[in-house]
Amino acid sequence: GRVALILGGHSAERSISLKSGAAVLAALQRLGIEVTPIDPAERPGSRLFEALSPAHFDRAFLILHGRGGEDGQMQGALETLGLAYTGSGVLGSAIAMDKYRSKQIWNGAGLPTAECALILDEADLAPAAELGFPLMIKPAHEGSSLGMARVDDHDQLVHAWREAATLDASVIAEHWLTGAEYTCAILGDQALPLIRLETPHVFYDFDAKYQADSTAYRCPCELPDALEAEYRQLCLHAFRSLGASGWGRVDFMLDANGRPRLLEVNTIPGMTDHSLVPMAARAAGLDFDSLCARILETSLP
Ligand code: DAL
Ligand code: MG
Repeated sequence: GRVALILGGHSAERSISLKSGAAVLAALQRLGIEVTPIDPAERPGSRLFEALSPAHFDRAFLILHGRGGEDGQMQGALETLGLAYTGSGVLGSAIAMDKYRSKQIWNGAGLPTAECALILDEADLAPAAELGFPLMIKPAHEGSSLGMARVDDHDQLVHAWREAATLDASVIAEHWLTGAEYTCAILGDQALPLIRLETPHVFYDFDAKYQADSTAYRCPCELPDALEAEYRQLCLHAFRSLGASGWGRVDFMLDANGRPRLLEVNTIPGMTDHSLVPMAARAAGLDFDSLCARILETSLP
């Protein structure tokens, strides 16, 4: 049927969403699906709802990244309109967009995540520093590593918090993880093969994610089979425990003892030519077009 491809939007990750959206649009067109791209930034307010009326479309493929699109807001609007959509529902989207509350749920469920502190104002800086340096500073509701910084002392902490706070009133300070970084794509009820990320940068930052040629992606990830299977199960469990569903990506790192620590869940992960879900799908024998078809199916009841 007729598909609305919702892309772009107002978030800080708008440019990534436009790239993801262009790739998905081309794939759906190759599949012979009748698809119309809709950018919320070009249709303010009620014009967006008119455009997305179930009178015009049978379902929506959501490829918005970040706040306003990946965090439950658009999902809630589509629920109200009665238009089926891909991926997680309102609750899972909202929780996964909040790194601090994701960690609280994982802690409650006994799933491993890096220790962290929430910084809402200046008074929270001292307790954060008590976690011990180095720390990773992150806006709690941002993506693509925007606003993130490693800090090694109190002055850097203050500076990085101020920078991150320009993007988000909630900032987290996370215990610095020294081990390898992995990601696990989720499709339906399956965890796809893990990818290991290697960057010469201090961490896997925006440039390492989307521009640098120096980033290496290992898939197969070179872990022993049994360990990879265990981590894939962990990621599926972590994904479901947040109420996420349909498709997504779970990021984790190893700590100094080689134990996995969950970082976050992305409920609408990137689908650009540098992105990880398409890479994992390829390793599972699924080309980009078939992956897009499978994601579209997640909109079915
Ligand atoms: N937030 C970016 C788009 C990702 O997770 O791929
Ligand atoms: Mg993210």
